[in-house]
Amino acid sequence: MPPQVRLHQILDWDSPQQNAGLRRELAAGLLQPQAYIAPKFFYDALGSRLFEAITELPEYYPTRTEAAIFIEHLPAIRQALGEDFTLIDLGCGSCVKAGKLFHAGVLPTRYVAVDISVDFLRDSLQHLQRELPAIEMMGIGLDFTHELQLPDELPPERRMFFYPGSSIGNFSPPEAGLFLQRLAAQMDSSGGLLIGVDLIKDHALLDAAYDDQLGVTAAFNRNLLRHVNARLDADFDIGDWQHVAFYNAVETRIEMYLKARRALSASWPDAAGRSLRHFAAGERIHTENSYKYSPQGFTALLASAGFADIQLWTDPRAWFALFFARRAG
Ligand code: AVI
Repeated sequence: MPPQVRLHQILDWDSPQQNAGLRRELAAGLLQPQAYIAPKFFYDALGSRLFEAITELPEYYPTRTEAAIFIEHLPAIRQALGEDFTLIDLGCGSCVKAGKLFHAGVLPTRYVAVDISVDFLRDSLQHLQRELPAIEMMGIGLDFTHELQLPDELPPERRMFFYPGSSIGNFSPPEAGLFLQRLAAQMDSSGGLLIGVDLIKDHALLDAAYDDQLGVTAAFNRNLLRHVNARLDADFDIGDWQHVAFYNAVETRIEMYLKARRALSASWPDAAGRSLRHFAAGERIHTENSYKYSPQGFTALLASAGFADIQLWTDPRAWFALFFARRAG
């Protein structure tokens, strides 16, 4: 009988209180002059699967480039992490990346998988626990971009945070700095951070990675409105919205939007009846930024957030970087 994984569900999309907060957040963003939906709303069960599909696309280089860095530099990564540690995997998704590390012999004593998509997390972790019964595993359903609340039972020593995939790029640089500071505050001087960061590169490669020929990224972006309809009881017609993504070289970020194909309105219930937002033809809802960094820029961000002993590994084309840093003394 395989051990059962423990799941702490701090985020519960369906609890009336949290659902009310998420609805307020969505409504406030939709009513801004530049309408906005936070990227965390991408990740309902279908959105998480669409993101997994994105990582398989020929144009989406980050996942496979990062995986190649792991293979190439495994001995150095193993040495950086050391022995007898807790691996805290932020945004674990399918837990595939952690699973690959474990199968390559990088074995923590304890594995803590954190994700906003709770059902997806439960299934992925159960699967991994069956494969690797010797590692103690725990899941936490949590929006860690908002708060990072780890259970008290987790030993404070040797906490190694694992944040692969360049998800840090979905924060603005000041937000990323604050997030890194919050991580540093969750570890003692024996702790560390292993983090993947997408690097600034040729614009055409970046544009293609976020607007693939098959239209999977478009489906991922448009699925956001399906999720919003379900969560907010809104009436977006998904067929009215077009995926737009491009690299902004000044801000060094990909910007993603949904663009109205015609003049339209969308509505959702509120305390007074219904809120309504009109969109002109061509008007856009901002759905995501994905910042790209230089190695020097991200090293400086880590240092200013309280990290030291910063190491970095990259691929031969310098498309992606993996950083390891310890909490400064
Ligand atoms: C999760 N995150 C790192 C992805 C990225 O590349 O910014 C999300 C994504 N959006 C479109 N494609 C992938």
